[in-house]
Amino acid sequence: MSQIHRAVAIDGPAASGKSTVARRLAASLGLIMVNSGAMYRAVTWQILQDGVDPSDADAVIRALEGMEIGCGIEDGLSTIAIKGRHLTTEVREPQVNDAVSKVASIPEVRERLVEMQREYLTDNDVVMEGRDIGSVVFPDSPFKLYIDASEEVRAARRSKDGEADAVAKRDAQDRQRKASPLKISEGAIVIDSSHLTIDEVVGEAREALIKLGWDD
Ligand code: CDP
Repeated sequence: MSQIHRAVAIDGPAASGKSTVARRLAASLGLIMVNSGAMYRAVTWQILQDGVDPSDADAVIRALEGMEIGCGIEDGLSTIAIKGRHLTTEVREPQVNDAVSKVASIPEVRERLVEMQREYLTDNDVVMEGRDIGSVVFPDSPFKLYIDASEEVRAARRSKDGEADAVAKRDAQDRQRKASPLKISEGAIVIDSSHLTIDEVVGEAREALIKLGWDD
């Protein structure tokens, strides 16, 4: 891992507001923002396109072997392409929501994507959001945040966005899996966003970073 660049790790459950906060924080600190969930979603989308059963780990691993995955940065935000196709809104389709936690529980999938996630730090200071960023991807970073919200608030936010997404089920799968489960990393500052506006969460996140030693 690079010693020169800094990583802000933001973890938390589905629809806790991490992505919005990560994007705003990255913009205000002049860092790039990497959405690691989009990478798990992109692999899942491709697997479904290929007609592979997401519950069949061996078949997923075989499909992953030949899969060309391209990670980039555009306007300060991470991008993801598979087989040369840039994936955006398709990764938020309901069938991806349903299958992504299964695919993300496969250690071989995680290994490949974690390696690509760490590469972002070689040339950039990053805010990266996901489930295992503080615990596995950048465990040595002192800048760890965990954004939470009550289950009711999170389910309501997702349905307000018009998305069919069983957040409680996905969270249970993400917390119970053996490989890099969702948890609060040691040293992370927890922010409960249930009753806060986005501006308030971003403000708390900035204060938390200063407490953790961020100095600009
Ligand atoms: O929809 P939401 O933004 O809450 O989730 P996401 O960040 O897009 O992540 C989608 C799924 O990818 C999660 O439910 C996890 O199963 C998986 N994921 C993971 O395992 N590790 C990460 N670092 C990020 C996402």
